[in-house]
Amino acid sequence: DHILSWQAPAFHFSPGKNWMNDPNGPVYYKGWYHLFYQYSPKAPVWGLIVWGHAVSRDMVHWRHLPIAMETDQWYDANGVWTGSTTILPNNELVVLYTGLTNESVQVQNLAYPANPSDPLLVNWVKDLGNPVLVPPKWINKKDFRDPTTAWLTRQGKWRMVIGSKVNRTGIALLYDTKDFKSYELQDTSLHQVAGTGMWECVDFYPVSKNESALDTGTIGPDVKHVLKASMDDDRSDYYAIGNYNPKTGKWVPDNPKIDVGYGLRYDYGTYYASKTFYDQNKNRRILWSWIKETDSENTDIKKGWASLMAIPRIVALDPLTGSNLLQWPIEELDKLRSNLKEFNEVKLEPGSLVPLNVGPTSQVDIMVEFELDKKVANSLRLGSGVPYNCAGHGGAGVRGALGPFGLSVLANKNLTEHTPTYFYIAKGAHGDLDTFFCIDQSRSSIAKDVDKSIYGSTVPVLKGEKLSMRILVDHSIVEGYAQGGRTCVTSRVYPTKAINDDAQLFLFNNATNVTVRASLKIWQMGHTSNNNNCPES
Ligand code: FRU
Repeated sequence: DHILSWQAPAFHFSPGKNWMNDPNGPVYYKGWYHLFYQYSPKAPVWGLIVWGHAVSRDMVHWRHLPIAMETDQWYDANGVWTGSTTILPNNELVVLYTGLTNESVQVQNLAYPANPSDPLLVNWVKDLGNPVLVPPKWINKKDFRDPTTAWLTRQGKWRMVIGSKVNRTGIALLYDTKDFKSYELQDTSLHQVAGTGMWECVDFYPVSKNESALDTGTIGPDVKHVLKASMDDDRSDYYAIGNYNPKTGKWVPDNPKIDVGYGLRYDYGTYYASKTFYDQNKNRRILWSWIKETDSENTDIKKGWASLMAIPRIVALDPLTGSNLLQWPIEELDKLRSNLKEFNEVKLEPGSLVPLNVGPTSQVDIMVEFELDKKVANSLRLGSGVPYNCAGHGGAGVRGALGPFGLSVLANKNLTEHTPTYFYIAKGAHGDLDTFFCIDQSRSSIAKDVDKSIYGSTVPVLKGEKLSMRILVDHSIVEGYAQGGRTCVTSRVYPTKAINDDAQLFLFNNATNVTVRASLKIWQMGHTSNNNNCPES
């Protein structure tokens, strides 16, 4: 009775049944990683939302726990919405979350573990003083949500951010509190950007070229701050890197052209409502994100489940460029690898297609490096037509001088279904070469009711670097990381033939003017069986 059961992930987190959206309140506590999530426990569609809860020792293998918070109070009767955890200096936890009241007003509420000595944090208590924060008069009652993790300021107060909008201006409101019960709205916002609409799930954290990670609230001369907002308008997570002044409470982007909502995205595919937390266990910052389904709601209802979490990623400032983040799957994932198959310098002449005979590949981790003859590349006079972008140029089948070349995943033998992941090198606005990283879903499935767009963006490539990508394939999700995670693309694909034992890999080079050499490592990936283990209520 498992309809479309081959679409279920083997190593991505999912509640197994019904609907999930945003990750909530991630935290490491007494030896366990906790993941809460927006959960609709009655159907595989969004609805009356509660906090689902799961715990893990390694963020790979999960144990589902009972629902942590239900819609049992007037101030969250219509939904226990997104929120974050803060660790107090005495190691106590507090959670701030948005409640949708019985009148559908968005208010902020305080909750804490009922029994702090329980490392699984099964039971939660809501504060008697809730709601602790209501929308200011000049903010629409339905545009005030998703409090961040708070941090301690030099003035001894806790500071946190809430996303909103004023007309079409997206805004990050700044609040100070001594006790998490009464709050002072700061006179100026942390930041705001005209024309971007509602900012959901704002995230704000320090990064540094000199440190692999910093706890929230760290300031200092070499510290930059990342501001991220999930844009309700185009359902994408945009970030920018800039300077935060703790005295004025203002954040300013390093490059005014790369502001929140206009420049960089965590991921150029399906990736939304993400949230980071500082992992004090391994001194790293971990990024979680909701990956929705891109098939039809009807199919989700038949399947009985909807949404995955992306593999948790380490997120850090790129020490080489200083102008973008690096995202990379947590090293714990490598424990699932087995059966390594290697290929060295497979020669791909222009127009070639090379099957890789490695057995079934519906569940694999792949690292690929491409080398191309630089002299050929530089001597070419490329046309100066419309600037390239992944979505606008017909995908992996349309040939250019220096691309596309890459790896087709979830491909059946005769290629009636396949999902190319590839690079394309094109002349940029200033005459130099830009490298693009794309995933083309247009032939991913013969099914009609699934999204088939082409995703991708440019990726910085420094002098002397080979082109590299890592691709995680897990039945109905493909996560791509180019150049060590400078540009990421995640897509949901729903093959009907290129499934299980019939899912193969092909190398291809559709460039007309350059020969490419590909070296690969391919691992089978294990099963974490989190899907057989649905949340208990
Ligand atoms: C983002 C979001 C949040 C909200 C939650 C409700 O996906 O809309 O802004 O808190 O989901 O489920």
